[in-house]
Amino acid sequence: MTDPNRPIGFFDSGVGGISVLKQAVRLLPHENFIYYGDSLNAPYGSRPLAEIQQLTFDAVDYLLSRNVKAIVFACNTATSAAVHLVREKHPDLPIFGIEPALKPAVENTEGGSIVVMATETTLKEQKFAQLMDRVARDRHVVKLCCPGLVELIEEGKAHSQETLDYLSDKFKALDVPEIKAIVLGCTHYPFILSPLRQVVGPTPLIFDGADGISRHLQNVLTQRGLLSDRQEPGEIHLINTSGDEKLLELSIALLTAQDPPMSDPPLDMETLGS
Ligand code: DGL
Repeated sequence: MTDPNRPIGFFDSGVGGISVLKQAVRLLPHENFIYYGDSLNAPYGSRPLAEIQQLTFDAVDYLLSRNVKAIVFACNTATSAAVHLVREKHPDLPIFGIEPALKPAVENTEGGSIVVMATETTLKEQKFAQLMDRVARDRHVVKLCCPGLVELIEEGKAHSQETLDYLSDKFKALDVPEIKAIVLGCTHYPFILSPLRQVVGPTPLIFDGADGISRHLQNVLTQRGLLSDRQEPGEIHLINTSGDEKLLELSIALLTAQDPPMSDPPLDMETLGS
């Protein structure tokens, strides 16, 4: 019998997936979580596909060695590159892959254009083309690849002038008349929400996939009898492959900051590598 009190594994190329982890913790406060942030190898988005796949397999193997009961790919890039391969390899393991929240953006807006901000890999892989075909056929969707933005966030510069200038230049160059919605198709980007708002103004609706995947996780664990029966709050264990304390500090700051405030679960940290 599977022990429902085993942890849930999360992974991302770096600190971005913490935006998803936060939402999952809100929904599932009695679960234990292990978060594997691969900042040593970030960004994934402009790497060759085979490299992203290998890094993803390594992350999955690590999480399995920690006896997780499910794995959440809190990384759009890894989902597009490798989720199908990992599912083939581990058919009995519940695996969840985040995808750009294009569907809610389509459902909640009419006319104009929808801008999807994501990495090069996410925007060029087949998974995104299939998603567009499924949910946004009759809409004007603009793909906005943002190389360099993940690096700014990993460096703790999410709210810097540099990030504001970056976003401002990106949207100026875009020249799209009526932006109705912006989809944050990379899990790092919710952390630049306020400079993004400064640049695009109050009108466009902004979507990310954290809530959708967290609800899906909750539903599947419930259906499979895999929800923890713990009464007390669960623990979050943060791992960062960079071996750099600064990245762990940044991870904690991102996890504990932001609105709406979340209850503070006990934190436990670890670094991998030197
Ligand atoms: N957070 C990852 C994503 O959702 C960033 C990818 C990268 O490292 O380039 O796509």
